Amino acid sequence: MPFKDKIIKEKVPQHIAIIMDGNGRWAQQKGEHRIYGHTAGVESVREALTAAAEIKVKYLTLYAFSTENWNRPKEEVDALMDLLVKTITSEVDSLNKKGVRLEVIGDMDSLPPGCKQALEESKKATANNTNITLILALSYSSRWEITNAIKKIATDIEEKKIAPKEINDALVSSYLNTANFPDPELLIRTSGECRISNFLLWQVAYSELYFTEVLWPDFKKENLYEAVYQFQSRERRFGKTSEQLLENE
Ligand code: IPE
Ligand code: IPE
Ligand code: MG
Repeated sequence: MPFKDKIIKEKVPQHIAIIMDGNGRWAQQKGEHRIYGHTAGVESVREALTAAAEIKVKYLTLYAFSTENWNRPKEEVDALMDLLVKTITSEVDSLNKKGVRLEVIGDMDSLPPGCKQALEESKKATANNTNITLILALSYSSRWEITNAIKKIATDIEEKKIAPKEINDALVSSYLNTANFPDPELLIRTSGECRISNFLLWQVAYSELYFTEVLWPDFKKENLYEAVYQFQSRERRFGKTSEQLLENE
């Protein structure tokens, strides 16, 4: 039976985050340049987005470019930015047809002006869509985000907008780039690497982590369904005991 048919509709995570990794290795295995892998990865973005929307996931966050990725060879960075602008621009109609609202987290000001503009335009053009929110993490790193949040909290304390005793879990969350989104219940990373690479450190505190050997350009709808199916078999205890969870069922 396909994994999609095994998924329990009522237990679909409302937010899935994906570290899309392995484009370079995928290309190199084929004797191609790494950039060929990034281009191929765009099709997997479409697959993941369509698959998530079909099972009524409400938020899909994709780690597309990290703060640390700026340290890659200039040729690769330029190609990635170029690919981003082209894809964002050409996909707007398709996003609107599918009811996808585009959001971005990360340091927008560090992106090339053309790239930032394309993102702003696509965000605006899709702002009223309600099926699913696609959140692109671009020039994003979690430590950058948390450091900024701390700076903003400090400034607001200095300006007496908040008092130190008001700082709690929810307040910290509200100062992050992800303030308007729930935490992901499921985090997927492709390509066999088992690390977080500075992604959503605060937000994944209780996420289920799913690592697959599949390289990102090979990731298809069925791979996303398999991850969700696996997620549904896990017991999320949030510090409690199994017995407590059964009592409350
Ligand atoms: C992920 O694939 C895409 C980005 C980080 C932009 P990689 O480019 O990291 O591919 P590998 O890990 O080198 O195979
Ligand atoms: C993480 O992948 C960033 C993205 C997927 C955008 P990397 O390939 O950059 O991560 P590391 O360097 O292997 O940890
Ligand atoms: Mg990588």
